[in-house]
Amino acid sequence: MPSPDRQPLTRRQWLGRIAAGGVTLALGSYAYARRIEPHWVEITHHTMPLMNLSSSLVGKRLVQISDLHVGPVVDNSYLRTVLRSLEELGPDYLVITGDLMSSRRAESVDLVIDTLRDSPVIDLPTFIVLGNHDYGEGFRNDFVADELVDKVRNLGVTVLRNESIDIDGLQIAGCDDRWARRTDLNATFARVDHTRPTICLAHNPDIADLPDWSTFGGWILSGHTHGGQCRFPIIGAPVLPIKNKAYARGHVSLNGGRNLYVNRGLGYTRRIRFGVRPEVTVFTLTPV
Ligand SMILES: [Fe+2]
Repeated sequence: MPSPDRQPLTRRQWLGRIAAGGVTLALGSYAYARRIEPHWVEITHHTMPLMNLSSSLVGKRLVQISDLHVGPVVDNSYLRTVLRSLEELGPDYLVITGDLMSSRRAESVDLVIDTLRDSPVIDLPTFIVLGNHDYGEGFRNDFVADELVDKVRNLGVTVLRNESIDIDGLQIAGCDDRWARRTDLNATFARVDHTRPTICLAHNPDIADLPDWSTFGGWILSGHTHGGQCRFPIIGAPVLPIKNKAYARGHVSLNGGRNLYVNRGLGYTRRIRFGVRPEVTVFTLTPV
């Protein structure tokens, strides 16, 4: 029973308490978005059905990471810890779908190389495509991209620039970046047999809407969006650097039997994430 001495709160006192609660909630959310979520990696698991998959490829694991943004903004020890942990996922193949580094004011090519060299990336069959940030500030500097590619290839890692490779009967095509104006799907698929299982790596998911996909019926793996980095109830993600907002994150079924998966990335351009945890994606290859 309430004490008879206790006075009920006035309207002003109630409003004060609600305001204090709101401020506490806002400060707590901001601290979470700055301190916890940017490094709270989620491992997501998906099956990847592919046409005409050979029995030797069934059950193989392909791990996708994206948007490392190595550079002055992303905590490099966090990235190294995540990269070292990839071995625990038992990957048969690893793909990195662009934005290895951030390019603002200065490039971080050598730090990218140090970070990759210190990880299982160089011991696995690893396939990389470039993102807009890999082309330097302004996203159009071929000299920066070429230097990065040369040094990554010297580590023994495959970089696909509008070309494809066949590994164990799986075709992996890699499309160069759209914002850098280096996308050429015709060249990318020049040596691809569309009757065989194929995965296409492309940093920017908007390329799924280009008209040049011919009879490609495989999977497109992308990044670029970071899932918007911040996603709120009702309004969703207010900042998405893509034309087709349906390609913000996760799996999308496309026409022509194509499948798109947009990884939320590991890094960030500003250290803040809310409702969009960084992601490592594990695909298990399965027959259709
Ligand atoms: Fe990015």
